[in-house]
Amino acid sequence: MNIILLGPPGAGKGTQAKRLIKEFNLPHISTGDILREAVANQSDLGKEAEEYMNKGELVPDMVVIGIVAERIKEEDCLEGFLLDGFPRTLAQAEALESELQNQNKKIDYVLNIEVDESELIQRLTGRRICQGCGRIFHLVFDPPNETDICDICGGKLYQREDDTFETVKKRLDVYKKQTTSLIQYYDKQGQLINIDGNKQPELVFDEIKGIVGVKN
Ligand code: AP5
Repeated sequence: MNIILLGPPGAGKGTQAKRLIKEFNLPHISTGDILREAVANQSDLGKEAEEYMNKGELVPDMVVIGIVAERIKEEDCLEGFLLDGFPRTLAQAEALESELQNQNKKIDYVLNIEVDESELIQRLTGRRICQGCGRIFHLVFDPPNETDICDICGGKLYQREDDTFETVKKRLDVYKKQTTSLIQYYDKQGQLINIDGNKQPELVFDEIKGIVGVKN
C-alpha cells in the first residue's frame, strides 16, 4: 500500500505517520526528516538545504525529487511506503508519477489533513521533539510528564529551528502558494481524500483507519 500524506505545516502529518507506519508496517519517508538529518551531518545536501529550511522556504524540486526517487527504489519499499511532506509542488507530484510508472507502482491513497490556520500556529510554536527517539510532544496539547524530558526514552526535548513564530508564518505562506495546484492535481485525478485534522490525534487516526482499512 502506497500512501501520500498531505497537509500544511503542523497539520499532524508526522504524528499520524508514526501511527500509520506502526499499524500497517510501512517505511516512513519524510523528506523533512531526511533533510534535517543531512543538515545535522553537514553533508553537501545538508549545507544546501539548511539555508532554505531556516528561512521557511522549500528546498529546490530537483534536490528533493532525486532523494525520493532513490528512496522508493529501496527494498523495504517493495510492499509499500508512506510519503510524508512529499510531494509539495506540482513538479514534485508529476516527477513522482513518472517514477512510479517506471517502477510499475501507483499511489493508493492521497490523504490531505486539513487544520485551521490559528491552530497550526499554536501547534508549531508549541511543538517539542525528543532528540533520542523522535517522539513528538506539544507543550499544551500533549505535554511530557517532566519538562523537556521524553516520557518514552528519557531523551532531551528540543524545538525545531523553523518552529519560531516568524518562520512558521513564512512556511504557512509558502504552503498556500505552492500547494494549491498540488491539491487540485490530486483532486482532478479523483485521488484526494480530505481528513479533518482539527480533532484529537486518536480521532484523526480513527478517521484515517476508516479509509485505509483496519489491519486484520
Ligand atoms: P517538514 O518537516 O515536512 O515540515 P512541515 O510540512 O512544515 O510539517 P511539520 O513537520 O512542521 O508538521 P506536521 O504536519 O508533521 O505536524 P506534527 O505531526 O509534527 O518540512 C520542513 C522543511 O523541509 C520545509 O519547510 C522545507 O524547507 C523542507 N522540505 C521538506 N519536504 C520538502 C519537499 N518535498 N520539497 C521541498 N522542501 C521540503 O504536529 C505538529 C504539532 O502539533 C506537534 O507538537 C503535535 O504534538 C501537535 N499535534 C499533532 N496533531 C495534533 C492534533 N490532532 N491535535 C492537537 N495537537 C496536535
